[in-house]
Amino acid sequence: MDKFVIRGGNPLVGTIRVGGAKNAALPAMAASILTEEPVILENIPDVRDIQTERSLLVSMGAEVELGYGRASHRTTLCCRNLVNPEAAYELVKTMRASTLVLGPLVARMGRARVSLPGGCAIGARPIDLHIKGLEKLGAQITQEHGYIEASADRLRGGHITFDKITVTGTEDLMMAATLAEGETLMENCAREPEVADLAALLNKMGARIEGAGTSTIRIHGVEKLHGARHRIIPDRIEAGTFVIAGALTGGDLIGANCDPLHLGALLEKLQECGVRIRTNGESVRVIADSQLRAADVSTEEYPGFPTDMQAQYMTLATQAEGTSVVTENIFENRFMHAQELVRMGANIKVEGSRAVVRGKTPLSSAAVQCSDLRASASLVIAALVADGETILDRVYHIDRGYERIEEKLRSVGAQIRRIGEMLPRRAAAPLATA
Ligand code: EPU
Repeated sequence: MDKFVIRGGNPLVGTIRVGGAKNAALPAMAASILTEEPVILENIPDVRDIQTERSLLVSMGAEVELGYGRASHRTTLCCRNLVNPEAAYELVKTMRASTLVLGPLVARMGRARVSLPGGCAIGARPIDLHIKGLEKLGAQITQEHGYIEASADRLRGGHITFDKITVTGTEDLMMAATLAEGETLMENCAREPEVADLAALLNKMGARIEGAGTSTIRIHGVEKLHGARHRIIPDRIEAGTFVIAGALTGGDLIGANCDPLHLGALLEKLQECGVRIRTNGESVRVIADSQLRAADVSTEEYPGFPTDMQAQYMTLATQAEGTSVVTENIFENRFMHAQELVRMGANIKVEGSRAVVRGKTPLSSAAVQCSDLRASASLVIAALVADGETILDRVYHIDRGYERIEEKLRSVGAQIRRIGEMLPRRAAAPLATA
């Protein structure tokens, strides 16, 4: 298991290039199931979750071609010969987003067998709304031995109102409805940019989707979809993570190749904290030349403050003057980083869905553990301002969603290196006796 060794104290100065959005790439890859023709996706990040999804699609019979050299972020997927419409527990347990294949498989193959994901480090995260929605589209669903089995001769359009806003639920059902007979109306949908990006891809494939990116989506089902080429949007959470790292270290950092419009709530909050922000069409510059001020934050669905930025913001709050109340409204257990930050010297009290952060307290290095993807990012950022050398264990969590984060941070002045686990030396073989 790899670890990061991080020595704090350097301001981050320079430009970091932001990659493609993991959470847009995952549904886009699942969308390839909907057609026999090749789907060419550009700006796919090279992160662990994408590798997991590739393995999943290959296990079903998909052909995958990876670009190389300058096209190394291109993936071509062809689902001409899907033979096994199943997402096995072994893969789903390592990545919940595997359930995104459920809707496309039923729509194209008429059947799917997908493992139920079970609990997760950040909350219970059921997929009942995906299942309810598929039933509304006419699928027969049974649950047995930890698997969902869904079948339908052909899905038919329906009216779905989500009881709760769900990002992958909206994506899963939007994909299913593209091949349904007739019209589907979905209300109370997620408005995340990743949903709109998926709709843009599906429309290039011949789907007829209107309203994606708003809370009401209308889908006119079509008989067949065809291949397409699509460039995945930039990763707003990776960009936001670098912006916070720049602000916290007192740096002058540019996040290039991102879409500042997708970062609205975060950038507004940082300005409230006293950070100077400059944006143009595709970059964000953060200049932190004054003492950070505390500000409360409450996570919400897009366009509100993203839950995926809550942990990183909490690290920033530990270095702001005053008390910040951080409220998590999306997941019930997403404060695992708080205790690790406390071990580094932060003053944080968690009370149910609220964390009260009293700043500013100096952070000091410690051995800390990653518990999930965004919690890990918050600890990396904390280590960048901590006194001494922090050892961060279980960095496989961070590799799920950040492409070579240590190289990107090093290129703007961070002192961070990755070390592999040191294996104990093998005992000398006993001498042969005659
Ligand atoms: N929910 C239900 N029933 C459902 C679906 C969701 O009760 O059928 C609940 C969840 O338990 C949660 C809330 O609804 O309390 C919102 O969950 P949502 O379904 O929106 O989350 P998701 O689609 O599983 C995506 C991202 C997450 C991100 C959340 C919220 C992907 C692949 N994952 O998850 O990203 O935190 O939306 O924005 O898009 C990450 O990248 O680190 C990450 C966890």
